[in-house]
Amino acid sequence: MSEEIWTAVDEFVGETLVPEDEALRGALEAAERAGLPQIQVSPPQGKLLQLLARLQGARAVLEFGTLGGYSTILLARALPEGGRLITLEANSEYAEVARGSIERAGLGDVVDVRVGPALETLSALEDEGAGPFDLVFIDADKVNTPNYFAWALDQTRPGSLIIADNVVRNGTLAEAASNDPATHAQRRLHEMLADEPRVTATTIQTVGGKGYDGFTIALVND
Ligand code: SAH
Ligand code: DHB
Ligand code: MG
Repeated sequence: MSEEIWTAVDEFVGETLVPEDEALRGALEAAERAGLPQIQVSPPQGKLLQLLARLQGARAVLEFGTLGGYSTILLARALPEGGRLITLEANSEYAEVARGSIERAGLGDVVDVRVGPALETLSALEDEGAGPFDLVFIDADKVNTPNYFAWALDQTRPGSLIIADNVVRNGTLAEAASNDPATHAQRRLHEMLADEPRVTATTIQTVGGKGYDGFTIALVND
């Protein structure tokens, strides 16, 4: 079993079940032209986010880590009329690329891209009373995932979903002795989840065109 076959399956699933229209293709092309790293969710993963948002009936979504807006567009398309998505991006050049692609996708009025380190832009969201959010997608700087999770827990409601990307990290999640800060943070996330009666959570390992990784899904309990 190799990354080659994982990629082939991702491509097959993408071609059959995740048709890429002009807006999504345009977002990927704009990101590539601008030299953004190609680390967006894969098409099947993006489709899962979209399905979860729809299952959720989400009207208010918060995303940590916009990059070129690929996952943003998929999530925003799951929203009903009047729904709103706020996405936080530290890099102002990435945010500009994303804004252009979101605008071209016809989602300019639905999506609000906030520029700055998320831990700073979060306080403005609190002041505005932007929450509670029905779905939070955590996909920014991985060392801060536990901090974003803690914040998300206070800005969601019973029934909300909190999803964190890139938690398995090539399997290093299982290495108690790992001194990689990003891995350490994902282990800490799991310890927080284990001690947190307000959520029910699991982590799913994934393989695909982006290698071996995985995501955590936490449901905020009633
Ligand atoms: N969700 C995107 C991928 C995000 S990649 C998608 O799947 O399409 C991670 C992003 O987080 C990068 O764009 C990076 O610039 C951003 N980021 C890194 N540190 C951040 C921080 N402190 N606050 C907000 N965004 C941050
Ligand atoms: C990286 C970030 C991601 O969100 C991802 O899905 C893969 C890689 C990164 O920062 O390298
Ligand atoms: Mg990611």
